[in-house]
Amino acid sequence: MIFHVLTIFPEIITGGTSSSILGRAVEREIIRVHPVDIRDFAEDRHQVVDDYPYGGGPGMVMKPEPVVRAAQSLDLPEGTPLLLLSPQGRPFNHQMARQMALNPEMALICGRYEGVDERVRQILPLVEVSIGDFVLTGGEFAALSIIDAVSRFIPGVLGDEDSPLKESFSDGILEYPQYTRPREFMGLEVPEILLSGDHARISAWRRREALLNTLGKRPDLLESADLTQEEKDFLKSWQTDQKNPLFR
Ligand SMILES: C[S@@+](CC[C@H](N)C(=O)[O-])C[C@H]1O[C@@H](n2cnc3c(N)ncnc32)[C@H](O)[C@@H]1O
Repeated sequence: MIFHVLTIFPEIITGGTSSSILGRAVEREIIRVHPVDIRDFAEDRHQVVDDYPYGGGPGMVMKPEPVVRAAQSLDLPEGTPLLLLSPQGRPFNHQMARQMALNPEMALICGRYEGVDERVRQILPLVEVSIGDFVLTGGEFAALSIIDAVSRFIPGVLGDEDSPLKESFSDGILEYPQYTRPREFMGLEVPEILLSGDHARISAWRRREALLNTLGKRPDLLESADLTQEEKDFLKSWQTDQKNPLFR
């Protein structure tokens, strides 16, 4: 899969995708990261990409011409996801990452300063996407997060192909708690059942713990999660238990 990234800081994108799992995926040509320097599409010899906001106010705004020209230079096939990173966008999530990984390529536009001229949104067939309700200094950090999340769904990127399908959000809830050695640490023991070798019981325990984890940390997810009636009743019994340590 090719990730085209429109940015005025291509080195952030190259740096963020050159080591660890993404770096290996690039080396093995499972993914390709293609930074496009928006400055190369500026008209003047000083390669100016920003200007003062009409109407006054703080900061600078990214000019529309270089951004639109950079996007059009890619000549993306119809249907290719073209994302504008923005705190005002649709919240990015697990399902979107999984869906985007089905495409042979996608493009991400990174804003800087006070963002991009509004007409970019009107001219390009883009989807505005946010990685959370906070404001970053630039879209590059959001783009790297999205490239990372999407890449995990591309066959060959992770060692264990099943891994992204078993993690938090994969079935609408959070993951169960994980433990590794040592068996006892500062007086805290690994739950006995995980040492039992009984895979059916371990699996049932993990599902129960995943449900409780979600109830304690992200109860909003349970509203749309695919749960059996037994699981719903189980959670209800915990919700009504005032001594429940999850709600202390
Ligand atoms: C300082 S921000 C601009 C914020 C803009 N003035 C506003 O209030 O909506 C600069 C750039 O960082 C990126 N950015 C900031 N926060 C983001 C977020 N939560 N998700 C995705 N991109 C973000 C966007 O590309 C944005 O154009």
